[in-house]
Amino acid sequence: FLVMRNLYEAAARQLTLKFEILNDEFSVLYARNPIHHIESRVKTPESIAAKLMKKGMPVSIETAREHVNDIAGVRVVCSYIDDVYRVAEMLERQKDIEIVKRQDYIKTPNYNGYRSLHLDIRVPVYLSDRTEYVVAEIQIRTIAMDFWASLEHDIRYKADKSRLPEGINEEMLAVSGKIADIDRQMQDMYLRIRAAEAPFVYAVYSAISASSRSRIAWSALQKYALSPRTSVIPARSKYRRTFSLMPQQATVLPCARRLWHSSRIACAPDTSTLGMPRIERITWS
Ligand code: GTP
Ligand code: MG
Repeated sequence: FLVMRNLYEAAARQLTLKFEILNDEFSVLYARNPIHHIESRVKTPESIAAKLMKKGMPVSIETAREHVNDIAGVRVVCSYIDDVYRVAEMLERQKDIEIVKRQDYIKTPNYNGYRSLHLDIRVPVYLSDRTEYVVAEIQIRTIAMDFWASLEHDIRYKADKSRLPEGINEEMLAVSGKIADIDRQMQDMYLRIRAAEAPFVYAVYSAISASSRSRIAWSALQKYALSPRTSVIPARSKYRRTFSLMPQQATVLPCARRLWHSSRIACAPDTSTLGMPRIERITWS
């Protein structure tokens, strides 16, 4: 049993790491995190046995591995609804991940209003002398969906169902609908804010790209706008000439975005014909 537990713990850790890597990459490229936090757990032997008995199956390691998909469980809590699907797509693209089952309880919520995207997947775990393929359940949801599911779980499991006051189930469903509305509203506000800032961020980007002293602008940009996580090539390294070329758009845009939000940029009151604001001044210090 210990061997099996170790295997599932390894699978959960590996999946968690995959999500952390995706989140970090996203943060470097787009200056934001789609994942709010990640939880993982391995089912206890008691809980595995209970699930097998409920399914009318003999309790053994073999039946557990075959019939219990959520011995290893990873929950990915995202900020917005779009992030849920974005994160799922990024995982589904990975070659070593096999999707066993996909249940979209966001498009079609449960009878009680439960919302989440469930992926049952198979992931290889490399051991000292062999490779084991382990099934795990991944739940991807927003903070709002997680809020509802956590409290509903609490109420459902702690209370004797037959003694729940009348109307609770209906109320639970209604609350879930309201939370889903709020989720959509938050996402909508977020998208509107991004749309409003986009032309300014592109203007900062173009101003820097067009500058004849782009190398100097770039180092200043790095100094003021880069996140501490991103490494900066030392100015005096032998690679200086290579790296002092204009960096890729993907690297500059998040910096431009931070710079824009740090109020170091003054725009001309009139916008150009292209609808792009004209940058008058960038304050570097
Ligand atoms: P098993 O995975 O074998 O249990 O059956 P299934 O695949 O039909 O279930 P599903 O994958 O849809 O749901 C499994 C997990 O989702 C549960 O262990 C819960 O964590 C979560 N879940 C499903 N429905 C609800 C619900 O109504 N409320 C809450 N709070 N969680 C739920
Ligand atoms: Mg399941």
